[in-house]
Amino acid sequence: MIWTSTFLLIQAVILYFILAKRSRSSTDPPLDKGLIPWLGHALEFGRDAAKFLNRMKKKHGDIFTVRVAGRYVTVLLDPHSYDEVIKDPVSLDFSRYAQVLMERIFNLRLPGHNLNKAKGLMKKHFQGGNLALLNRTMCMQLSSLLKAEAAQNRMDWKVDGLFSFSYSLLFRAGYLTLFGGEQNNNGTDPAEVYREYQRFEALLTKMARGTLKPDEKRTTQAARQRLSEFLAPAGLGEAPGSGPWVQAYRRLLQAEGADGDMQRKALLMQLWATQGNVGPAAFWLLGFLLTNSEALAAVREEFTRVSQVETSQESAVRTPVFDSALEEALRLTAAPFMTREVVKEKTLHMADGREYLLRKGDRVCLFPFISPQMDPEIHQEPQAFKYDRFLNKDGSDKRDFYKGGKKLKYYTMPWGAGNNGCVGKQFAIDTIRQFVYLVFSHYEMELCDPEAVMPESEASSYGFGMLQPAGDLEVRYKLRASL
Ligand code: HEM
Repeated sequence: MIWTSTFLLIQAVILYFILAKRSRSSTDPPLDKGLIPWLGHALEFGRDAAKFLNRMKKKHGDIFTVRVAGRYVTVLLDPHSYDEVIKDPVSLDFSRYAQVLMERIFNLRLPGHNLNKAKGLMKKHFQGGNLALLNRTMCMQLSSLLKAEAAQNRMDWKVDGLFSFSYSLLFRAGYLTLFGGEQNNNGTDPAEVYREYQRFEALLTKMARGTLKPDEKRTTQAARQRLSEFLAPAGLGEAPGSGPWVQAYRRLLQAEGADGDMQRKALLMQLWATQGNVGPAAFWLLGFLLTNSEALAAVREEFTRVSQVETSQESAVRTPVFDSALEEALRLTAAPFMTREVVKEKTLHMADGREYLLRKGDRVCLFPFISPQMDPEIHQEPQAFKYDRFLNKDGSDKRDFYKGGKKLKYYTMPWGAGNNGCVGKQFAIDTIRQFVYLVFSHYEMELCDPEAVMPESEASSYGFGMLQPAGDLEVRYKLRASL
């Protein structure tokens, strides 16, 4: 036993020195290991990734390798070269890092799991013909929750933070639509599921980075357990309350031999995948509209031109002003890392002719938030919300954006791209459109302080999809007299 431990320790020390000794060769991107052994830049990266990566970009240019908690991560910030990463799933693997996160956040291990089958199921239920059905259910849930949400006395204003208002409503409606609820989850109140989910999500970035303190570990374990209990009946026994996708997903997990505990953890992961970004995205959009009267008037005016049924249920209806406003809100607040593991050595050909070797075992990370989304060469005044940024003068969608005089394929990337791009994109867009439409048509809503500005984003939330706000925006609302 003691020999095994000594052997492992020696191996670990040798490995440490091999890793610590890494130096840049002529084929490598610029290398920045940071001053702290092993940790490298982990602390600065975690505190505010956008600030850190902007600093590295100034120092090294649009490609560099940094050491982060023992791993070497090559960060690519030239959107003209993004396809080199997006379109090479053979050398650059998506699922390995996704599995690391699944285990860290959800304690989820699915050894026999077929990721492609699970994704196929999602495509079947969230895209194409089935999407219309999903949209109708979502619209019904949103509409009845909005009516119930207003003050009992319809003359009275109700005051709330816009973030908690938007997220709570969309989460509850999404939960009822996809996972069932009232009928099959022992009468669980979706508001209770939301509260527990918030406790869990508040620690999500720390879970992903493996930096939870002991008391936080206990909190996440308890929240995970409670959420698993809420989700336990979802999709079982053709329960009338849960949607067809969750039933099919359950059947897949069962066929693959996952036990009940792993099935519930997998459902929690899906709760996060389907609900975690939509609420925050709707908050940012609604907030930008309420703090920008010209944008608000333009979107309202467009909504009055298309009929209620169309706006709230059909993907196909054309709402270019709304689409541009949403695209703009997402440009400012969607900040995912697109991370891939180098499973086979690869020469990365940059669009300007430079070539770099990506080493096996390293990770590659795109961070489109810095470029294209906040790149002043591509988007003038990138910090400003301009609702018509993605509209041409004739009202059609604007898709021509340039960097270095060359037209860009990727001028904003809130949904990722390629094979691993967002499966739920159209459902998310339709849901947010329904939500904004229904809020405007059901409520009179205004800022409590007419001079209020949007909150900053939480610096530690870069890299995990939608940014979280560092505060909230107080609004008051009441049901319209005509309802
Ligand atoms: C505003 C809302 C949303 C945003 C901003 C968003 C963003 C993204 C992004 C950036 C990725 C790619 C990650 C990468 O390349 O590493 C992604 C993947 C994914 N999204 Fe979304 N998403 C949203 C809503 C949804 C919804 C509602 C669903 C489900 C119905 C969903 C399901 C998925 C799935 C399953 C993947 C993984 C695809 C794969 O495995 O290849 N998303 N999403």
